[in-house]
Amino acid sequence: MKKKIGLVGAGNIGGTLALLAAQKKLGDVLLLDVAPGLPQGKALDLCQMGATNCFEPIISGSNNMADLKGCNVVIITAGLPRKPGMRRDDLLKTNSEIIGKIALDVKKYCPDAFVIVVTNPLDAMVWHFQKVSGLPSHKVVGMAGILDSSRFEMFLAQELNTSIQSVSATVLGGHGDTMVPLLAHSYVGGISLESLVKQGYLSQQRLDEIVERTRKGGGEIVSLLKNGSAFYAPAASAILMAESYLHDLKLTLPCAAHLTGQYGVDDLYVGVPIIIGANGVEKIIEYQLNTQEKTMLDNSVQAVQDLVNSLKNLSN
Ligand code: NAI
Ligand code: 2OP
Repeated sequence: MKKKIGLVGAGNIGGTLALLAAQKKLGDVLLLDVAPGLPQGKALDLCQMGATNCFEPIISGSNNMADLKGCNVVIITAGLPRKPGMRRDDLLKTNSEIIGKIALDVKKYCPDAFVIVVTNPLDAMVWHFQKVSGLPSHKVVGMAGILDSSRFEMFLAQELNTSIQSVSATVLGGHGDTMVPLLAHSYVGGISLESLVKQGYLSQQRLDEIVERTRKGGGEIVSLLKNGSAFYAPAASAILMAESYLHDLKLTLPCAAHLTGQYGVDDLYVGVPIIIGANGVEKIIEYQLNTQEKTMLDNSVQAVQDLVNSLKNLSN
């Protein structure tokens, strides 16, 4: 049966999600937004692309959340993006109110959907969505790790003058400045980053700079754009998660998943490798982290915990 993909938030990421979902023929696409005309206008524009891009005009726009009925996948980008000088965490209050309302609508209209939260601050927003909606945690995930890993991979490929296809790098932890680009579990041409340094292919100093640039990857784009944040790579990352669910691809992807003891973390959403298939989060993979990686992950988890604590205080 034909699938339906609901995109809540028709801004920069939402519009790009609709384009990619249509081009990849994932199913009927519904753009939803509070701004009158915005989702309808983008949907119409995208439908008119169908003739030259070989897809049927299957995109619609709406301001009515009841249209979520029948969605198999919901991707949530509704909220405010970062402005220059703003940290992801500054968005906590405004975006948690928006996410809370959307969580109730998703629960009401499409409780069986696989939900991908993108809105920042990501790890707290996906946690909040799951708590408010009460949807099973294996059907609620957050997108960040794929994006952060893609940035890490791009910087490494550029530095080593190799194809990005030869790089397999992973970033775990929260989607913030404490994120954890893994050194022992990331590879270029099958050689770990640690070994690349030992063998002299890459200096420790350049690797440290790339790690730091990855951690600040979102902020770098915010300061260039001046009025908004990255949207092409974030949309592509969320679409990959949707594809893995809809087509039961069982890809192992770094995503914010609900942890119940894995990595020593309980009841938090943190970026870890998971397998996404037709049942949602089918497995959480536990890497054997070395001491340095473990210390960095603990630090990142603490940052996510602090954010969730602030969120809990907001609602008291
Ligand atoms: P945008 O401002 O272009 O779009 C957001 C849209 O949400 C706007 O059109 C707005 O009208 C809409 N909106 C606000 N309240 C709503 C509601 N209650 N229901 C439906 N729609 C509502 O922002 P953009 O660039 O699309 O980013 C969206 C979010 O994604 C931001 O919070 C941003 O920080 C986050 N983000 C997360 C990343 C990640 O890795 N997790 C990466 C990049 C951005
Ligand atoms: C990003 O990483 C701002 O979280 C957003 O691009």
